[in-house]
Amino acid sequence: MKLLINAGPTRESIDPVRFLTNRSTGKMGYALAAAAVEAGHEVTLVSGPVALVPPRGLAAFVQVETAAEMAEAMKQAFPDAEVTILCAAVADYCPKNYSASKLKKQEGDLSIELERTEDIALSLGKMKRPDQILAGFAAETEDIEQNALKKLRMKNFDWIAANQVGVPDSGFASDTNRLKLYSAAGEVIDLGTGKKTELARTVIRVFSAKSASEKK
Ligand code: C5P
Repeated sequence: MKLLINAGPTRESIDPVRFLTNRSTGKMGYALAAAAVEAGHEVTLVSGPVALVPPRGLAAFVQVETAAEMAEAMKQAFPDAEVTILCAAVADYCPKNYSASKLKKQEGDLSIELERTEDIALSLGKMKRPDQILAGFAAETEDIEQNALKKLRMKNFDWIAANQVGVPDSGFASDTNRLKLYSAAGEVIDLGTGKKTELARTVIRVFSAKSASEKK
């Protein structure tokens, strides 16, 4: 089966030396890619800048930096994918104006105007064919279930994996995660807390099994 996965943060440049980013390390997305390769799938991994070594055996590895580059790479690869998992922490905003020269410090405060980036999930949700599975992640600090289900509907996902960030043993940088899967069909699968590498195997099994049984 052909899988497309994105992972890691994006970097939105302010000037040649500064950028906006987030705490994503790419661990969960890379674990998903490794688990999918291990399960015998043909995997394309689109990655923002991370300090991880890509798993062996990928069909394609695309490195990007900005949300715009990630959107481009994902939209290009999406039509060919049977299952797509969006695990990247795409920046929601980028600087409206890039300064080609380094901004000088001045007296007083500085404001930087930000504009919305493309919501890749939303774009892919609109492109999605009935034979494709689209799954996303929702990193939440509160009202996890409610927010996850709202995103599932809004972005036309078939599955959403919700995890809590800002607590020990779950979320960014941690080797473990607490995950609950919700499907558009109303299924709820609580995977509890586990190592990202182990959770990844289950997630791949669930998403690819559903794809094979329901959509063919
Ligand atoms: O809305 P929120 O960012 O919390 O939704 C999370 C899901 O949407 C993740 O799967 C993430 O990869 C995806 N996303 C995206 N493009 C964005 C923001 C989020 O694909 N600009």
